[in-house]
Parts: sequence; structure tokens; C-alpha cells
Amino acid sequence: MKSIPSAAERTSFVQSLLQWFRITNRDLPWRRTYNPYHVWISEIMLQQTQMDRGVTYFLRWIKRFSDVQAVAVAEEQEILKYWEGLGYYARARNLHKAAKVIVGEFGGVVPCDYHRLLTLPGIGVYTAAAIASVAGNFDVAVLDANVARVYTRLYNLDTPVKEQKTQKRLREIAENLLPKGQARAYNQALMDFGGLVCTPKNPHCVRCPVAASCRALHAGTVAGRPVLGPKKNMITVHKVAGFIRWKEKVFIQQRKAGDVWGGLWEFPGGEIAAGEGGAEGEPVVQVVSEILQDTGLSVALVKPLTRVMHQYTHHKIILHCFLCTLEGEKTEPMLRSACSFRWVLLDELTQFAFPAGPRKLIEYVRASQPEFLTGDVHS
Ligand code: ADE
Repeated sequence: MKSIPSAAERTSFVQSLLQWFRITNRDLPWRRTYNPYHVWISEIMLQQTQMDRGVTYFLRWIKRFSDVQAVAVAEEQEILKYWEGLGYYARARNLHKAAKVIVGEFGGVVPCDYHRLLTLPGIGVYTAAAIASVAGNFDVAVLDANVARVYTRLYNLDTPVKEQKTQKRLREIAENLLPKGQARAYNQALMDFGGLVCTPKNPHCVRCPVAASCRALHAGTVAGRPVLGPKKNMITVHKVAGFIRWKEKVFIQQRKAGDVWGGLWEFPGGEIAAGEGGAEGEPVVQVVSEILQDTGLSVALVKPLTRVMHQYTHHKIILHCFLCTLEGEKTEPMLRSACSFRWVLLDELTQFAFPAGPRKLIEYVRASQPEFLTGDVHS
């Protein structure tokens, strides 16, 4: 099999893909007008979530922040609240920063120029290419993990996809295939095709519109493309958290800026070392001292509540949650890992943005609220 497809083969691939897109083109909200602000928000959201969820978040976002000015003048807390659940909160903070630059320096107009886009916080080569091509129909090729998967199969590339030489080859392929003047349709066709047909697992080769062009399909290597590098080991982290009640209120604290969850709220506690056989039996001993260290608050342990698990990149975080009460009178905390705190009613918790672990704890508390609230925690 030749490694460089002929011009006729390339045209056949491109035309088949465009034809498929004309038939299947999904009615996505940002595809109605191709407003650059809408395309930008959708691209940032879709980098970390499935389409259905992405559309839900997008519609909610646009309802509240109808244009880039609305984002620029909003408080970061509100931006984070509308991002809550999407994860990767640096993306929301960067979006906020970029909105301020667009309003302050670009006259409030989201650019479609690739190089201008690249100057904005949170916009890298993929996002700049996606906005320039989808919103502006500029001839810029997109290359992300989905597109790389499609091309490694199409060309049956057998070198690890993350290697520099593979990336270089993929970029050449992407630029070579891009049909001039049709970047908007072609790039979206590629994205949809990667998400709906040429999927990572169990791709739908039997109904593939470009099967005739696929070298991996002919070679029987689709399942082995792209060639992935060694898997990163999962690291398990155990943490304790205290749901500290004082009368009908609960203590929450806001994380300092500077880490992934900066600006978000949480229940105090800390990481604990996993002993032999995991952390079983230990968290209960450590929660009171961790809370003291984290907040300066003296608390008494009432009961274990639940254990929630969430994953962040290659970290598995197990949060051991406990119901605690304040010992003695309410005193001013001395915060170690947080920059501010509140005592709030349970119903007020929804006003704050929490990372996934604490959010699961709140769900647990909500689900068991009647029993939880009637339990006399001070007895
Ligand atoms: N994935 C990322 N961006 C996308 C887009 N604009 N359309 C479909 N899927 C996408």
C-alpha cells in the first residue's frame, strides 16, 4: 500500500466526508449563526465534556451571559458557578480573563483571526484554529485528539501518536487535506465524524462514509490506531472532610487562587496518608486534627457520613466525609489553605461553586436531609 495517497484519493476522502456532513449536520445552537462568541464558548466547553452536556451548559451560559461584555463584567464567583460540574476550572478563569481583554483591547469583538486569537488567555492552537475556521471560515486546519485518531486510521500511522514526528506528520496531513474555502464545513465534519463514527472504541466502520479511503480498515488495524504510549498510573489520594454544623449552619471555605480549584468552595479537612491496606480505619482518627490544622476550629466528631470518589486527570481522590460540630462557641477561624469562609444554611449551598467531591457530599446530605436535620448533633 502506498503511503502517500494520490490527489484523487484525497479528493475522494474530502468529498465523501463533506457529503456525509451535509446529510448529518447536527442542529447545534452555535451552528445557527456562527457568532464567534458562541463558537468560542462551545469550543472551550466541548474540550472537556460530551456533546449533550456541552449543549446544556452552553444554553445556560448564553442565557446568563448573552455576549462577551456580560462575561467581562461578571464576578469570578458567578463564572465559576456557571462552569460548576465541567471541571478544569482554569478554563473558566481564562475565559473570564480573555473576555476582559476582548472588551478592553479588541473593542468587544471576539476575533476570528487565528494569530489574534492565539494572544488570548486559554486559547491555544487547537481552539484558535477551531474558532477561526468555524466562526470565520478561514483556511486553518484543526488537529486535536479526535482529528488525530481519524487521520492515524486513514493513513494507518503506526508510530506513537504523541511522538513529535507523528504529530508533525499529522499536521502535514491536516494541512494537505483541508479544502480551501470550506474550512467551516470540513473541520466540523471531521469533529462530528470523530465523535460519532470514528470513535475511540468500537468505531462504526460498517457505516463509515469514508471506509473506501481508510488504510487501517484495509489493513485490519483500526483497533490499534492510534498507537498510544504507556498508560499513566492512577494515583489514589485519600482526603478527609468535615461537614461542620453550628446550629442550622454549615462551615464552608474558599480555596486560594493558584491551584486547579482556586476560587471554588469546599469543606475543610486535608489529605491523609494511606496506611497499610488503604486508609480504612484511619480517617476517623484524623478528621478532627486535620480540621484543626486547616481552620484552627475545634470540632467534635459526630459520625461518619459517606465516602465519595472522583477522578481528576490521573488522580483518584477518595474523600472520607464526617459530620462534626463546633466545640464551644463560634470562634474566628485561622485559615490555612483557604482565603475566606462562610457559615451558610443548607439551602444556601447551591449559591456557591464546589469541585466534584464536595458536590457529591452535598448531594448525599440533600438526599438524607430529613434524618440529617432531625438528628440532634449537639447531643
Ligand atoms: N468537538 C469540539 N468542537 C466541536 C464542534 N465544533 N462540533 C462538534 N464537535 C466538536
